[in-house]
Amino acid sequence: MALATDDQYSGGMQTVRWTAMADGTAEDHRRLTPAFEANAMANLVPNLLQLLGLLRGPKLGYQIDRYDHSLQSASRALRNDESIDLVVGALLHDVADGFAPENHSEVAGGLLAPYVDDETRWVIGHHGIFQGYYYFHHLGGDRHARDRYRGEPYFDACVRFCHRYDQNCFDPDYPNLPIDDFLPMLEEVFGRPSRIPAVAPLGRHRSQPSPSPETTSTSTSMSPGANHDH
Ligand SMILES: [Fe+2]
Ligand SMILES: [Fe+2]
Repeated sequence: MALATDDQYSGGMQTVRWTAMADGTAEDHRRLTPAFEANAMANLVPNLLQLLGLLRGPKLGYQIDRYDHSLQSASRALRNDESIDLVVGALLHDVADGFAPENHSEVAGGLLAPYVDDETRWVIGHHGIFQGYYYFHHLGGDRHARDRYRGEPYFDACVRFCHRYDQNCFDPDYPNLPIDDFLPMLEEVFGRPSRIPAVAPLGRHRSQPSPSPETTSTSTSMSPGANHDH
């Protein structure tokens, strides 16, 4: 086998010979999965910041761009002593604007889902239709479209989010906090164990040591991870 030296997580591990996953062995995957997960988790926050950076640019007729809108949302949430989950949710609530314009709320909610509380996941995942209360009627639509969710446990929370941290976050004179102020919160939230149950019990997550083939054969760890699809 050719030795891999492609990144810091490979640790000198060998490169597999196969080109189809169907040909992989247990030993292969006990090496590959930790490297994949370590790489993913180490780059998660930097990648999210890059995605957020995609919102910089044209103001599209508004007084501020989507990046400053996001910072303003998070800044207002933080100054109102909202939970760290909601502050991070506010920062990322429109992160999918540039690559999922048809369902940016759901994509953001899904992105947050493994790491935040249920309320934040639901609120961010539904904020688009709730935000419509402020403009759908100007486009010939129903500003009360959100009413289809009345009775849901987080309905009022989503109304509140849009009122306090979305519809009002287009102010060029508002003193946004710098993105650096939110980095520790991003690191904390996205450093949590995943709330999504592991599909493969031997999958690990983050800093747990990579098992040797001898130890993994008897491991019963149910730690999160191994949910990626490669
Ligand atoms: Fe949005
Ligand atoms: Fe927004």
